[in-house]
Amino acid sequence: MLVNCAKAARIAGINLSVYIEKTMSHGKSVVIRPAKGLKGSVRLPGDKSISHRYAMLGGIAEGDTRLENFSTGADCASTLGCLRTLGVQWERNGNSVVIHGRGSKLQAPSVALDCGNSGSTIRMLSGILAGQDFSCELRGDESLSRRPMARIIKPLEMMGAQFESSDGGRPPLRLTGGHLKAIDYKLPVASAQVKTSLLFAGLYADGTTRVEEPIQTRDHGELALQAFGARVERRMREVSIEGRQKLKEIEAVVPGDISSSAFFLCAAALFPNSQLLVPGLLLNPTRARLLDFLIGLGLRITMSGLEEQHGELVGSLQVEGGALKGAKISGGDTAALIDEIPVLAAIAPYTEDGIEIRDARELRVKESDRIASVAINLRLMGAEVEEFDDGLRVPGAQKLHGASLDSFGDHRIAMAFAIAALRAEGETEIQGADAAVISFPEFFETLDGVVLR
Ligand code: S3P
Repeated sequence: MLVNCAKAARIAGINLSVYIEKTMSHGKSVVIRPAKGLKGSVRLPGDKSISHRYAMLGGIAEGDTRLENFSTGADCASTLGCLRTLGVQWERNGNSVVIHGRGSKLQAPSVALDCGNSGSTIRMLSGILAGQDFSCELRGDESLSRRPMARIIKPLEMMGAQFESSDGGRPPLRLTGGHLKAIDYKLPVASAQVKTSLLFAGLYADGTTRVEEPIQTRDHGELALQAFGARVERRMREVSIEGRQKLKEIEAVVPGDISSSAFFLCAAALFPNSQLLVPGLLLNPTRARLLDFLIGLGLRITMSGLEEQHGELVGSLQVEGGALKGAKISGGDTAALIDEIPVLAAIAPYTEDGIEIRDARELRVKESDRIASVAINLRLMGAEVEEFDDGLRVPGAQKLHGASLDSFGDHRIAMAFAIAALRAEGETEIQGADAAVISFPEFFETLDGVVLR
């Protein structure tokens, strides 16, 4: 019916934006209309991974941490909410947050810690809670309650924490912290959340905690610890941290979220006439594989104004569209692009030779089963897709049509298909599109501001 409203309005000459919202009993849906290109400038809210880490470390630092351009997403608000329940005082004014650090000891909470939809909150905060002398409960929404936590439970128990969990290591978790001892730990799965959780626990342990990862993952945990004054040793894929270190406060501007930029870069990639400027973007090399990948596909990207802020590389991008070839993503590339794969798969039908994604089994245990969510939505738009246990193959040179899709309650699926819809024939409705609030509440308005119709 909404699609009809959009058609009626257009026929009547009313200039509708690229999307229309409607509120339904189970959340908001949006209708995306096809676009002709992308032009303009997009400044992105603060990176989600960095915002979580700065907030948590700010909570256990000695002084007041001042953060600008803090992530506007609901996930980072969950981290701030948990910190408040743990006795950390903070004030927020728009995207500016001041966190009054309590030093290493937090306050025993009188209610369960609500981690919402946020895997980063529950996994990384558990590292800090493992070193506290109290018990607490960590819980979250239905999606978080399905996600695997054994990956943090096992090593944190080896350090001395105790956990009770439901259904073989899923939230809610009952965590009893205590006196921790350092461990040497080889991560069985490449996970920056787990690595960071163990480094945070390492701050509270006797001795030196060493974490070795199978493939290098994003290093924001290491860089944030160093920014807050901790000594962290890094050698190849091994990171170690001495226990019993005190943290000092920082003042920082959180760089723009590169994973959120992926939606706009991919949208620009869909139209050869696109011209997009992205200032103040996080360009940390452990996250910037996205740019190499898109350049390889055919997008023209120029970087400028590079600088380092608290160890993080930041700069501006000038992006121009071009013809898109095809590519395969596997091994270390998959780990480096893990959050961007939904949108890369969603634009794959519009490339010449398609995109194949392998070694991505982890995508099945994200906010939704992202391999299944992408395959279902692409097929609903008329695309041919081959689904594997560990990935997808999406042939190129396909024409997609508008359809009624589901976000599966997953922010990155909602946004990925808003981008795919820009080049489809006809209108696309995305149910549960308000899931975008998890990482990027302003996504649809921001898209509307740069889309050419
Ligand atoms: C994150 C690490 C990745 C990523 C998530 C954020 C982080 O998860 O998918 O969105 O900030 O450390 P894993 O650690 O599960 O790979």
